[in-house]
Amino acid sequence: MAVITETAYQQCLNLACLTTLGVEQAAFACPKCGDLLDVVYDWDRLPVPSRLSEFEAKWSDRLNPLSFSGVWRFRELLPFAPPDQIVTVGEGQTLLQTADKVGQFVGLNPGCLKLQYEGMNPSGSFKDNGMTAAFTHARMVGARRVACASTGNTSAALAVYCSATSYGFKAIIFIGSGKIAYGKLAQALDHGALTIQIVGDFDDAMHRVKQVADRLGIYLMNSVNPFRLEGQKTIMYRVLEALAWEPPDWIVVPGGNLGNSSAFGKAFIELKHLGLIDRVPRLAVINAAGAQTLDQLVSTHGLTWSNGLPDMNLTDRYYAGLDASGLKASTIASAIEINRPVNLKKCLRAIDFCDGVVRQVSDQEIMDAKAWVGAGGLGCEPASAASVAGAKRLREEGIIAPSETVVCILTGHQLKDPTATVAYHGADQENFEKVLGSRGVRRAGFANRPVIVPNDLDDIIRTIALYSESGDANGSSD
Ligand code: F0G
Repeated sequence: MAVITETAYQQCLNLACLTTLGVEQAAFACPKCGDLLDVVYDWDRLPVPSRLSEFEAKWSDRLNPLSFSGVWRFRELLPFAPPDQIVTVGEGQTLLQTADKVGQFVGLNPGCLKLQYEGMNPSGSFKDNGMTAAFTHARMVGARRVACASTGNTSAALAVYCSATSYGFKAIIFIGSGKIAYGKLAQALDHGALTIQIVGDFDDAMHRVKQVADRLGIYLMNSVNPFRLEGQKTIMYRVLEALAWEPPDWIVVPGGNLGNSSAFGKAFIELKHLGLIDRVPRLAVINAAGAQTLDQLVSTHGLTWSNGLPDMNLTDRYYAGLDASGLKASTIASAIEINRPVNLKKCLRAIDFCDGVVRQVSDQEIMDAKAWVGAGGLGCEPASAASVAGAKRLREEGIIAPSETVVCILTGHQLKDPTATVAYHGADQENFEKVLGSRGVRRAGFANRPVIVPNDLDDIIRTIALYSESGDANGSSD
């Protein structure tokens, strides 16, 4: 088959291999050495704007679906697809919110904390940024059956792109047993995806979906698919756009399978190479303490990108240790309950280029940060709040200064996981114990408990009067 776009190709990430493939191939791993693939562009032969502000011209062209999309309005920065093949459902209508109340909790000066709210995507999480790009590639290669393993959001996004488009895509999703928040499971079921629940966790499901995709020739939609990461680069373009093209000091992102952090790093590598930014933000990738492979490998064992030749023996030894101890990932932030992140190597590249740091935060820190995002921001699901908890931790350590501009990525919508939220705030002790207590989470002072009041007018009025005197419902009285 002819190469569809010769100015874009796929290349093995392994410097000792560097095998290349055309963009018309669907490989998901280097056919020679099995390493990750990257999408690479011959920028010298591509029309790229000379200034990022030139993208603003797309704002006046919103009737064109490619300019309306918050991904494809930056299409010159992910130019692997012929425009007539692009699959879009209007993703990327997201916003950057300055959140001073949450900023105060984090320890930042007013105006310094920004929340990039990706919950506004059609499926309610950042995944749509990647799905639109991967579905475009799937269409280019003539794929019909598409599959993923998921902690919930990837599968929800995949199901949406199958159901909301008319190219005949069929969704097959793999989930672990009891490992998926109800909001996300509801989406997969409602959008008609074949939902295969296996006994095991995300890492087990990931292993299986790769085998199945390989055996049956099904198109793989997990973030080992390098085209997905092309779409996820645009989260950074929209952050820059919202900051009038001025890079922030920090980007803080939760780390699960490490697709986002990898994509963000690639975005900045390319923008710098193209001379479109002169300053690169620092990157902080935040693990949950119960799924802390990246933090262990980087912060404890000193794993680095090493000019493209990271010591993967360290990783192999770490995974052998996990196997020997039978340790499984476990966190209330189920979206990032992952012990074997598939994009580890690309994430190391991002950390290297963006002078990055990695931290882990406890379920308690995550749930407390989430409550603050709810009380002073647009709300988010537990995994997303790891970014805010991580920023707070880095502030306390003095690594982030109070006057620095910090963008925390809120990766998923608040309503994705109502169980965790209601348990944290709720009055029902039994439910709290079941969902959070067993993980050592306490309800903090700012949990907003429902008030049980008799169905009596005077009692109700007295309760409202009490509430009005004591400040707002989350207990703060500023
Ligand atoms: N936040 C949310 C809400 C997620 O759903 C995920 C990943 C992450 C953060 C982590 O992002 O993998 O790029 O490091 N969810 C995947 C899923 C694994 O299956 O939905 P990452």
